[in-house]
Amino acid sequence: MKPDVLAIGPAFTLLPKVMEEMQRYFTVHHRRDYPTSVDDALRHRIRGLATEANRGAGRDLLALLPRLEIISLFGVGLDLVDLAAARERNLAVTNTPGAVGREVADLAIGMMLASARQIVFADRFVREGRWKAEPLPLGRSLHGKTLGVIGLGGIGRAIADRAVAFGMRVIYHGPRHKPDAPYTYMDDLVAMATASDVLMVACKGGPDTRHLVSNAVIAALGPEGTLINVARGSVVDEAALIGALRTGTLGFAALDVFENAPNINEAFLTLPNVIVQPHQGSAARETREAMGLQVVDNLRAHFEGRKLPSPV
Ligand code: 8YV
Repeated sequence: MKPDVLAIGPAFTLLPKVMEEMQRYFTVHHRRDYPTSVDDALRHRIRGLATEANRGAGRDLLALLPRLEIISLFGVGLDLVDLAAARERNLAVTNTPGAVGREVADLAIGMMLASARQIVFADRFVREGRWKAEPLPLGRSLHGKTLGVIGLGGIGRAIADRAVAFGMRVIYHGPRHKPDAPYTYMDDLVAMATASDVLMVACKGGPDTRHLVSNAVIAALGPEGTLINVARGSVVDEAALIGALRTGTLGFAALDVFENAPNINEAFLTLPNVIVQPHQGSAARETREAMGLQVVDNLRAHFEGRKLPSPV
């Protein structure tokens, strides 16, 4: 008999090929939205959980599933998975590194280029007919500038490696120096922000990094600086960020993630010096499909008693 799997996520997560593959090996119970209840007959049958990184698996949901054995996460960020609750139950936890890092790094570089070369603003400039009256105000070059990366994990490293091709100098901050990385480690985040033209947030979310990008860090980045966040909204003190963008203490920001997505602070929508994106870092068809198939691979490996391809 096929094991029962609860799969949470909209159609863009559970693409047809992924769903087909999952159904080949499992009895799949699909919920578009994160469930707050599961009916009694079903909850005692569920042995596998497939869930998105931006929905996670909280203690309440895990408590509803007494026979659960594995959480197979679609994405890399573990901030919404209650790892302590999973550990207490000895649940296997897997995620989908690899393709996500490349894809998020591509968007991060795109946002950096869009900021420096005003691509979003310039599009509006043409559409609104302003080009006929005046030339576009000049943008900024990235060549020779310094990129400070917060979090040199899979995503941060992919961003750093790409930035080198744009003639940028890369420095990074994180919990530890990484001897295999050809970039300068900065122990002090304020000092790194002072030295950076662009500050890129690529670290994990959760309580350890909450508001790591503080008022002091934002002020150190300064009026000529750009803050880019492709990690989690919680890493940045949003009130401080909005204040700094408003007064010009910070030059520019490009954000793919927010503290309260998708109901983001409306102040961002009124500020001219910010680009907003709808948490679309990994949202390319090929990558989302690869991630989904990785979710299925991890589930299969667990139930077939094989080594997990990407355990956490
Ligand atoms: C996910 C993410 O795509 O990997 C992560 O941590 O935030 C995104 O890549 C998100 O869970 C959407 O499904």
